Amino acid sequence: MTVLVTGGAGFIGAHVVKKLLAKKEKVVVVDDLSSGWAGRMPINIPFEIGDIADTAFLRSVFRRYSISAVVHLAGSILVGDSIKYPLLYHRNNVVASHTLLTVMLEFGVRTIVFSSSAAVYGDPSQTPVTEEADLRPVNPYGWNKLTTEMMLRDYAKAYGLRYVALRYFNAAGPGYRRRPASHLIPRAVHAVLGIEPYFRLNGADYPTRDGTCDRDYVHVEDLADAHYVAWWYLLNGGTSLALNCGGGKPYSNLEVLQKIRSISGVDFPIEIGPRRQGDPASLVAHIGLIRETLGWVPKLGLETMIGNELEFARMYLSKPTA
Ligand SMILES: NC(=O)c1ccc[n+]([C@@H]2O[C@H](COP(=O)([O-])OP(=O)(O)OC[C@H]3O[C@@H](n4cnc5c(N)ncnc54)[C@H](O)[C@@H]3O)[C@@H](O)[C@H]2O)c1
Repeated sequence: MTVLVTGGAGFIGAHVVKKLLAKKEKVVVVDDLSSGWAGRMPINIPFEIGDIADTAFLRSVFRRYSISAVVHLAGSILVGDSIKYPLLYHRNNVVASHTLLTVMLEFGVRTIVFSSSAAVYGDPSQTPVTEEADLRPVNPYGWNKLTTEMMLRDYAKAYGLRYVALRYFNAAGPGYRRRPASHLIPRAVHAVLGIEPYFRLNGADYPTRDGTCDRDYVHVEDLADAHYVAWWYLLNGGTSLALNCGGGKPYSNLEVLQKIRSISGVDFPIEIGPRRQGDPASLVAHIGLIRETLGWVPKLGLETMIGNELEFARMYLSKPTA
């Protein structure tokens, strides 16, 4: 019984791989290294470099390993790029997922945990947002995730596929290496390290407590645990569903930045810019359903996420030389 992890060389995927290995599961990783890093992979595990949209490549992987389940994290993740390059995003998130599901079904593999996103909710009318809320993405990335969820739902009905779609909120913690950084905490950490001269805050005129957006953060190690328990749930006959996976607590962007300043001891400059297109004022997870269904609760708080991310960045990222 081998678990195929797509995108296992990525920020979150590498933590999922580590978790599965710690639980003594057999793992094979498929990643095309388009944004992943091979150095994240433990040396002794099978690692197949290739594109999950390539049917022949995927078939050869399924033929060579006795795969019983898939954890599917591979994809393109930048909301802004999805608006600029929707063709690429549909290809890499929707078409690629379709290929993966087709090959899975061809080989009789019917269990999958999928990395979905809070982006499926768009700009929710109520927060914390529950899984019952309307699904109204506001950008191509969110639509990619929702379309893949719809494929999962339809294939579950028609072909007996069983899935858990984990709708992550903002993942944070050690291992983030993307440059330029795309998410709030790593962007601020880059300002702490002097990789960026200042932090640009996108909008401070939202109808929130302090005018900046409220967001929800979840530690990557907690996320990795959620994948493991979701997979275990499916192995034990659990029914297919989509679950929010977040910290369940609102933090305004300004609050997070102040925490990063105080934990790092660096008063990096903050420049307030205009709102960014498609940013909801508040996106916070209601995490009752995942707690009830999988018994999962986040254990690591925002201070730990920030501390771990700072520690990792101080060790592995450095200021570029002039
Ligand atoms: N980071 C977050 O806060 C967040 C939030 C919600 C959802 N997600 C989802 O979680 C997943 C992992 O995100 P991440 O933050 O680790 O990003 P990441 O870019 O670090 O990881 C994605 C991995 O997928 C690989 N990949 C991309 N396209 C591929 C393809 N066609 N074939 C094979 N490999 C491919 C990349 O090389 C990379 O290793 C993504 O699906 C993302 O949409 C992330």
